[in-house]
Amino acid sequence: MTDQLKGKVAIVTGAASGMGKAISERFAAEGAKVVLADINKDTLAAVEKEITDAGGQAVSAVTNIANEADIDAMVKCATDTFGHLDILVNNAGIMDNFIPVGELDDKLYEKVMAVNLTGPFKAARAAINVMLKQENGGVIVNNASVGGLFGVRGGAAYTMAKHGLVGMTKNIAATYGRFNNIRANAIAPGGVKTNIQSTITAPNELGTKALALTGDAPLAEPSQIANLALFLASDESSFINGDIIAADGGWTVV
Ligand SMILES: NC(=O)c1ccc[n+]([C@@H]2O[C@H](COP(=O)([O-])OP(=O)(O)OC[C@H]3O[C@@H](n4cnc5c(N)ncnc54)[C@H](O)[C@@H]3O)[C@@H](O)[C@H]2O)c1
Repeated sequence: MTDQLKGKVAIVTGAASGMGKAISERFAAEGAKVVLADINKDTLAAVEKEITDAGGQAVSAVTNIANEADIDAMVKCATDTFGHLDILVNNAGIMDNFIPVGELDDKLYEKVMAVNLTGPFKAARAAINVMLKQENGGVIVNNASVGGLFGVRGGAAYTMAKHGLVGMTKNIAATYGRFNNIRANAIAPGGVKTNIQSTITAPNELGTKALALTGDAPLAEPSQIANLALFLASDESSFINGDIIAADGGWTVV
């Protein structure tokens, strides 16, 4: 550990599990003060305890990223508790059973868009309006997916939302990144060993058939993605702005 985030304040959404947990732990180990945001209160408390027991600084903010009042409270938690906000990691996300357009009902579409795109947009908006007032600006890291770059790594709702997240990343980079010292980049993970697979309860037949065309995905440990999130959040990546970096073990290169 090298204190790469010493003195920085970070919000990580979806911090109670998988990549969000690994990112939060790594950031805290690198000296960041971390606001752990997740809808799952019990697992969130366990992550907070793990981090503080290890000597790190973290506070929990129970947050439904689909709820704007929760998002505002999450950002206020960062500024009230730690005085500023330097890093936002939009990581929370859900899957959609690989359902294609013709079979996608409004309820699932709206839920996936709310969690995977509208929530990250509102969180970025709130964070940017804090970062704009800071001399050192800030950094936004969006956890997208190779589903944000290609057609069948998720269902239609997931694919549309993650493509939207990629678009938002580029827009922030081109505006605030060029003019206001607020960089934005996105990670596009391939397969990662997390709890998200357990939410694929009834995989759609057509969606699964299309996914099979892509071959077997190599599987990453969440810590391998946390390494990239750390790089993108730290000053080590100070000249990287508007990039979407795939971390998929070469899944999409063949
Ligand atoms: N695991 C993969 O293979 C993979 C691949 C590419 C991208 N991703 C993306 O990585 C991100 C993290 O996923 P993961 O694989 O670590 O999954 P995970 O299920 O292990 O963790 C996701 C966390 O998000 C939280 N969450 C869900 N809905 C929420 C809401 N409305 N508000 C706040 N928190 C909420 C969950 O409680 C959970 O703690 C997601 O955006 C996902 O789309 C995952």
